[in-house]
Amino acid sequence: MNIIDGRAHAQAIYHDLAQQVQQLKRQPKLVIIQVANHQASEAYIRGKIKAAEAVGIYAEVQNFPESIEQNQLLTVIAQLNEDRTVDGIIVQLPLPGHLDEFIVARAIKRSKDVDGFHPENLGELLIHETLLEPCTPKGIMTLLEREGIELTGKHVCIIGRSNIVGKPIALLALQANATVTICHSRTNNLHQHTQQADIVIVAVGIANFLTDDMIRTGAIVIDVGINRLNGKLVGDVDYDSVSQKASALTPVPGGVGPMTVAMLMSNTVVAATNQQ
Ligand code: GUN
Repeated sequence: MNIIDGRAHAQAIYHDLAQQVQQLKRQPKLVIIQVANHQASEAYIRGKIKAAEAVGIYAEVQNFPESIEQNQLLTVIAQLNEDRTVDGIIVQLPLPGHLDEFIVARAIKRSKDVDGFHPENLGELLIHETLLEPCTPKGIMTLLEREGIELTGKHVCIIGRSNIVGKPIALLALQANATVTICHSRTNNLHQHTQQADIVIVAVGIANFLTDDMIRTGAIVIDVGINRLNGKLVGDVDYDSVSQKASALTPVPGGVGPMTVAMLMSNTVVAATNQQ
């Protein structure tokens, strides 16, 4: 069984991106907007800053209190949109309940939307390709490509239909000539779908959700989940049983997570190259 090492791939990508950054006329700049102090967000933001340092991107965190009103946040974004020294903008999620994630995503200039959450960037995926793909789906596709896993003709079964993982990864897999099934919490006889798949991608946010009886022998399993169970970080895959039956599996931590951060850096370099 091949345990796919997302950290090692991410490191190799940082090395390549650092060389691309050297070719640019000025240092790329990423602005991370943080509202309030969500505990998990703190850790994610630290990871993003560390990755930016490795690549040579200047990452600036702009922190706002929980009381910020939506219009104030939109004004901040509008200023960053116009600032030519800023190449990429992300708003760390989740946001407090009074702020609308959809409106905020829409406010970021498309060409600086390095999270790939803008509806026009997501919508363009439906028709052809987009310059800035959402980071987790882009990270999964990059991981499969770098592992030499060809998708043409393969059956990819996705569990989860979120706007930032399930739906866009389905479109990218389709572009790569896979046959795609999208399953979700209301799917009847889920195991009948997953058992057919060459590649199963799980993004449901439930610890140990995918068990060995749900896959066929030799399947490739991509675990997008990040759950805390008894103080430990675990994915959506029941690792002990699935690792006995799959031919390849991404671990949690150290699989898809590092690739998501690497793709944020990749998108920032794309945005900076494009702006210059
Ligand atoms: N919160 C958890 N994951 C993400 C992500 O990929 N981007 C942003 N902006 N917030 C997140």
